[in-house]
Amino acid sequence: MWNFLARNKQVAAMMGLLAAAALMVIYLTTRSGGSHNVRVVEHLIAETEDVSDDAHIFSTHSLPSDDRFMPSIGNGHIATNVFSDTVYMNGLYNGRKGESRRARIPAWANVRLKSTLTNHPYSPVYSLDTKHGVFQVTVDRDRSVVTQRIYAHKYYTRTIVNQIYVEPKTHADPNFVHHEIWIAISQMPGPESKDIAFESPIPEIIENTIVWKACGKTRETEDPVYQPLPVDVCAYWTSVPDHLVVPHFRSRVFTFVMTVDKNETVARQEFVKILQEDGEELFEKHVQQWVRLYQQGGLEIEGHLQLAKIVHGIWYYFLSSLPSEESYLPLDRFYGLSPTGLARGGTFDDYEGHNFWDTEIWMFPSILMLYPRYARKLLQYRLDNAYVASELAKLTGNKGYRFPWESAYTGVEVIQPCCPDVAEFEQHVTGCISFAARQYLAVTRDEDWLKHGGCSIVTNIADFWASRAVINYTNGLYDIENVMGPDEDHSNVTNSVFTNVVAGYSLYLAQYVSCLCKSYYMAKAPDHWADIAWSLAMPYDETLDYHPQFQGYKRGESIKQADAVLLGFPLQYPMNISTRANDLNYYESVTRGTGPAMTWSMHSIGQLDIENHLKAAELFNKTFEGYVREPFKVWSEYRRPRVGAVNFHTAMGGFLQTLVFGYGGLRVALDRLELRRPQLPPAATRFKIRGIKYLGSNLTLDIGVMETTLTVSSVDDNWPLIMNNGKYNVTLVPGLTVTLSGAGPFTIRSVPWKDCKLPADKIGQNYLRPIGL
Ligand SMILES: *[C@@H]1O[C@H](CO)[C@@H](O)[C@H](O)[C@H]1NC(C)=O
Ligand SMILES: *[C@@H]1O[C@H](CO)[C@@H](O)[C@H](O)[C@H]1NC(C)=O
Ligand SMILES: *[C@@H]1O[C@H](CO)[C@@H](O)[C@H](O)[C@H]1NC(C)=O
Ligand SMILES: *[C@@H]1O[C@H](CO)[C@@H](O)[C@H](O)[C@H]1NC(C)=O
Ligand SMILES: *[C@@H]1O[C@H](CO)[C@@H](O)[C@H](O)[C@H]1NC(C)=O
Ligand SMILES: *[C@@H]1O[C@H](CO)[C@@H](O)[C@H](O)[C@H]1NC(C)=O
Ligand SMILES: *[C@@H]1O[C@H](CO)[C@@H](O)[C@H](O)[C@H]1NC(C)=O
Repeated sequence: MWNFLARNKQVAAMMGLLAAAALMVIYLTTRSGGSHNVRVVEHLIAETEDVSDDAHIFSTHSLPSDDRFMPSIGNGHIATNVFSDTVYMNGLYNGRKGESRRARIPAWANVRLKSTLTNHPYSPVYSLDTKHGVFQVTVDRDRSVVTQRIYAHKYYTRTIVNQIYVEPKTHADPNFVHHEIWIAISQMPGPESKDIAFESPIPEIIENTIVWKACGKTRETEDPVYQPLPVDVCAYWTSVPDHLVVPHFRSRVFTFVMTVDKNETVARQEFVKILQEDGEELFEKHVQQWVRLYQQGGLEIEGHLQLAKIVHGIWYYFLSSLPSEESYLPLDRFYGLSPTGLARGGTFDDYEGHNFWDTEIWMFPSILMLYPRYARKLLQYRLDNAYVASELAKLTGNKGYRFPWESAYTGVEVIQPCCPDVAEFEQHVTGCISFAARQYLAVTRDEDWLKHGGCSIVTNIADFWASRAVINYTNGLYDIENVMGPDEDHSNVTNSVFTNVVAGYSLYLAQYVSCLCKSYYMAKAPDHWADIAWSLAMPYDETLDYHPQFQGYKRGESIKQADAVLLGFPLQYPMNISTRANDLNYYESVTRGTGPAMTWSMHSIGQLDIENHLKAAELFNKTFEGYVREPFKVWSEYRRPRVGAVNFHTAMGGFLQTLVFGYGGLRVALDRLELRRPQLPPAATRFKIRGIKYLGSNLTLDIGVMETTLTVSSVDDNWPLIMNNGKYNVTLVPGLTVTLSGAGPFTIRSVPWKDCKLPADKIGQNYLRPIGL
């Protein structure tokens, strides 16, 4: 497995390119920021160059000076920013209500080579290997090469591993007197935790090794009713000496581990097991899990190295925060994917590790196409909190389930203290969860999910919206008042178009799902839900042929981020192409420059839809330029020189959607999958979406300069697939490669799912309803 070493030597040989790369960064920064020398210098210190030409590996000779741009390692149970003093764990929060945030565990796994801490003649190479889920430091010294591997084990999920491999060099002079090699190291766990009251660490002997154990409890619960007791945490770690000694003739690997869990027995069992493992086998088992994950799917880009790297970085960061598929000991329940992932979330700046609509609208869609099992886990987090959502609905005088704007350990509203009005009004989060369920059902037809909570969550969300819609007798339409759309610059509005469409879709979906579930689940009023959706107000300006964001929106007022534009995508609300174009062009002109990157992802997809390719490419650039921080492709919420939340998974999710649903052209509907004008992203020469899981099949879309094909690896017998390739209807069978000719859309359909009428999805059909009906 030590071929990493060889690769890093190549990297070292590339040092000559470094100067050129630095110049390029100056050029890019000056151009994109339109700024002055001072800022350029700041950037160069804060970010450093990625000198690797491997799309999966990000390498550098010096770390970014801004710690926030350090990469993370994680496995969905635990995660840490490399070299930080903090480890976070899935579902471990401390603090009351809006103060609830990820609880800091001291990083007893933070081991540093002394030679990388001080000014030294040796030039270390730091690499993030996204393919194998490992961060690596290599130091080429006078008498040895030292390599440190740091990873959150993907099979032993409670464990963070540090392995230091020392390889002595043979001396050219045979008369040279050899001495032992000493390598100074240092454990840097940081100060005591303010969030967890740990007892003093206790030494123990396990497997002939001195180890340490520390147990404690979180200091404050999130909510007195839903969490009466604090949470226990126990950590075990191997003791770290201040130097390693290696004989001059033989290489050696030293392994240091830290395990942590809420359950002491689990932390201990896994720790003992690891101490019995051979160092190389331990690493192999970890790598195997990552390899298996990537076998299931991925995006491959040729001809544009930077784009390929960004994409690999995103999947690496996403999968680092998602639970392992196989683990030594059973996993705890999963507490969701938050805007800055599992490795961050201890501060207000990085959203405290809470869950928002970001998960369902921004991250979920691409994960669903390649890893539907993870999509189910994301929905499961909401199901686990359904009871609390029903209580919130009651508290606010509504019915069904009302999900909080921010949700962490218990599922109660944990809005940050700054912004209570956001929690009060941004109710669309509940509709976004239903929309994610709709896409999930469209892609999987997972009956097991419906039986285990799916029917219930979908119908209860419809109940919520039915109780929020108020009939307006002047026109016979239902209004939804006192809401806030995604544009947080406009609060407490009536009939936000985004809110009303997700509400309307929620109501229609419940009618459809009631039919799907009828043999085992009794729904209350399926047709009533659909009636409300049909008559929900839908602001539309006939003269200007566009959607005002809400009733009473004054044209020209600036907005924070994409809102009405989301009707076109992801919501795919049917409208004339002229309306779509007007929405896109108008809202682009009023979106303030300081918003997050996701806005431009959706504008880019929209411009592709209306076949304005040049504009789409320009906006595509805007989705990542200035947001992706070198060398480890960490995303900031705001464009340089501002930062905001890091590592901003929400924007990564938007960017991935531009590739999968924009350039890739995938469109999910309840009765079909469409490939709409698949095309190459700007400057790429090949773009592959590998492992698309549609109704249990496995498909690969391969877009090249000359032709586009769809290859079938497998098809689920229950869901035979027929595709229209632009000329004929073709039955998709394993091994088949279909060439797509023309622009499409190419449609893939199966047999219908039960005898259930698809949702009408028409909202605001403006007619006067007789009063009283
Ligand atoms: C802790 O884990 C052990 C072993 O899996 C299990 O038997 C025990 O019930 C767990 N304890 C708690 C409090 O969950
Ligand atoms: C899906 O097909 C791709 C391409 O043939 C293959 O690499 C991958 O292993 C398959 N995935 C699954 C889960 O079958
Ligand atoms: C009813 O609709 C009319 C016309 O859209 C609007 O002006 C009025 O404010 C609405 N009434 C209420 C109570 O919302
Ligand atoms: C929201 O608007 C309503 C009028 O529709 C008003 O009564 C209420 O006080 C407003 N709430 C806030 C927090 O501004
Ligand atoms: C869409 O275009 C058609 C034909 O021009 C027109 O009849 C219809 O009213 C338009 N629909 C909307 C919602 O503007
Ligand atoms: C996008 O950015 C790249 C370089 O970052 C540039 O070469 C290309 O011209 C840009 N494309 C558009 C359409 O602005
Ligand atoms: C392909 O199948 C669709 C749906 O079954 C049908 O409407 C269409 O006519 C077929 N097209 C051809 C070319 O056979």
